[in-house]
Amino acid sequence: MAFQGLTNFDIKSSYKLNSGHSIPILGYGVYQTPAEVCEEVTLHALKAGYRHIDSARAYRNEEPCSSAMTKSGLQRSDIFFTSKVPPKAMGYENAKQAIEASFAETGLGYIDLYLIHSPYGGKEGRLGAWKALVEAQKAGRIRSIGVSNYGVHHLDELEAYIKESGDGSSIDVGQWEIHPWLPRDDIVQWSQKRNVAVEAYCPVVRGQRADEEVLQTLGKKHGKTWAQILLRWSLQKGYVPLPKSVTATRIDQNADIYDFELDAEDMKSLEFPDSYAPCAWDPTVSHD
Ligand SMILES: NC(=O)c1ccc[n+]([C@@H]2O[C@H](COP(=O)([O-])OP(=O)(O)OC[C@H]3O[C@@H](n4cnc5c(N)ncnc54)[C@H](OP(=O)(O)O)[C@@H]3O)[C@@H](O)[C@H]2O)c1
Repeated sequence: MAFQGLTNFDIKSSYKLNSGHSIPILGYGVYQTPAEVCEEVTLHALKAGYRHIDSARAYRNEEPCSSAMTKSGLQRSDIFFTSKVPPKAMGYENAKQAIEASFAETGLGYIDLYLIHSPYGGKEGRLGAWKALVEAQKAGRIRSIGVSNYGVHHLDELEAYIKESGDGSSIDVGQWEIHPWLPRDDIVQWSQKRNVAVEAYCPVVRGQRADEEVLQTLGKKHGKTWAQILLRWSLQKGYVPLPKSVTATRIDQNADIYDFELDAEDMKSLEFPDSYAPCAWDPTVSHD
């Protein structure tokens, strides 16, 4: 439970991964950020203090993310960049090509984190993609590796493969849609038991829960917006939230979450253990 229960953190805080590398606890998401505005908004995010960018092959904006990294004037080592094997590129050869394409497009010397975007593609596809990630990690090109949208049955399958193959790999990070209305306790418990960092996507539920009474109440109590309450909840749960916005004021607002704390009662009021309400796709339940 290394990631749980911390409240004393700021925008520079990070968690140590199984790989030995560190991950900044707040990420900046760029899904659905058009390539033509991506450099500008990512640059704004870096200026606002974010040090972690969550992209993917499928988002078609790795290149503008990397140009923002260069133009920011920050050291490469100060920024954590993530990409992902696209669902259509599962299997060893396809995943290897996807990884190469990320390097070609971004010009980066190394990538901090590469995830398998989703478990679709069958067992052979999943394990082949993992093998490609492990190879790239061993070659020092990718620093940490992980999965996204894996259900517990997919995680068990991967863990069994890692044990059998003896490849010495470990899952560093997992990424899932997680917020109070989709707490995913089973996946979180599986991950935290193994020190797998839990990244939370759709952390502000794409704006769909803005009017929830509990968020309004907590917002008033702390002088914060409903989005800031959700992001603070995510951090206090020990997750790595990945809010996305192309709006400068929201980018700033989503990073301004370190000057207040939700108390135990506040956290309890955001617990809906029986709720299962995804606002995005949900490959965790697939069984191919
Ligand atoms: N692995 C996966 O399968 C997967 C799936 C989905 C997402 N993700 C990752 O997680 C990131 C975040 O997820 P998401 O983009 O789906 O959902 P999200 O971050 O919960 O919501 C983004 C939406 O909320 C709006 N918003 C953001 N901050 C706001 C604020 N403070 N006040 C009001 N509205 C606000 C944004 O509007 P504007 O942009 O117009 O400001 C945008 O429409 C993605 O960008 C991606 O990196 C991964």
